[in-house]
Amino acid sequence: MLIDNFKLENWINSRENQTKYDLSMTCPKALTLNELSQICDCDFSKIKDIPLNYGSLHGSKELKQAICGLYDNQQPENITVTLGGIGANRLVIETLINKGDKIVCICPTYQQVYTLAKFYGANVKLFFLEKDFSLDIEKFEQVVGQDTKLICITNPGNPTGLCIKEIDKIIDIANSIGAYIFCDEVYRGLKHSENSYSNSISDIYEKGITTGSMSKTYSLAGIRLGWICANKNIIEKINLNREYDTISISILDDFVATVALNNHKKIIQRNLKIIQENKAILDIFISNSKCLSWVKEPNAGTIGAVKYNLEKSSDDFCQSIFENTGILLIPASVFDTEEHYFRIGYAMDKEYLNNALNIFEEYLKRIF
Ligand SMILES: Cc1ncc(COP(=O)(O)O)c(C=O)c1O
Repeated sequence: MLIDNFKLENWINSRENQTKYDLSMTCPKALTLNELSQICDCDFSKIKDIPLNYGSLHGSKELKQAICGLYDNQQPENITVTLGGIGANRLVIETLINKGDKIVCICPTYQQVYTLAKFYGANVKLFFLEKDFSLDIEKFEQVVGQDTKLICITNPGNPTGLCIKEIDKIIDIANSIGAYIFCDEVYRGLKHSENSYSNSISDIYEKGITTGSMSKTYSLAGIRLGWICANKNIIEKINLNREYDTISISILDDFVATVALNNHKKIIQRNLKIIQENKAILDIFISNSKCLSWVKEPNAGTIGAVKYNLEKSSDDFCQSIFENTGILLIPASVFDTEEHYFRIGYAMDKEYLNNALNIFEEYLKRIF
């Protein structure tokens, strides 16, 4: 059975080979094993002695323990380890959705979740944030009604780069009708202010299900490791489905992730420094330009949405930038909206970002 195009991935994949400056990136500058071993004071030569077997099927005890350290109230039985955040999201949707179930998804967001839900036969309602990315909670409550089984959110958001302020109200709405809340939290831990971890839905709502990943917050996309955190009953159901597509994750990934998560505070400190310095550069770039402004200034994660004041579709705008400069941005259209904005990532190498923005600036001077 064929599924709808994943617009975001298609946009990137079809341009990958011609891209000179990839500002679509969402991961903070990737760690090497060398850098990780310095940050964590760990000797990775031990890796050479690990027998390359399956390892623990649902993730090692040590890894699950390290994942629990990211939450307030979780035990290893509340965790299952997956093939990336994308594998985690798929398992949650596949397990919870039955044909005809109503789900409400706050948008713009990562398309994977709602397209998969539709694919599995759900009655999917997309609830879009207002033009300034605020959430009209009364309208939202009406759309949820009495018959929603699952509310889907991403917190911090993609492409918004924002923490959802109304989490408690969303929980009240879900609780009043016994709905699940599924929250993709792959950017959790990267709030730009002091306490970088926002509350996890799995810590504060009994029917809350969280997915997490090594890719964004911990700069290790190359190990393809994610997880799901939820109450024991839900995890047991998810594991039934998981047997059919995972067996186990790589034993090497398990080892690296355990070391990294046992040192998560140090990695986050490194990443927030990159994010804060680069965001300052991007802020100056945006405020110097006559035609760009934040839809809403991001306060978490590695990305944000930038408006442009030109009567051009976001596809056309991003495509013309791409053809003229080799800079890859993500148009709003891939998030199923007609709005005039693009998503930009800013947590990559600083010099790379600076070079890209210089070229971008020259281009904007020519067209505006
Ligand atoms: C919101 C969101 N969820 C999940 C993923 C998938 O992440 P992973 O690399 O962990 O599979 C992404 C990747 O961009 C994402 O932005």
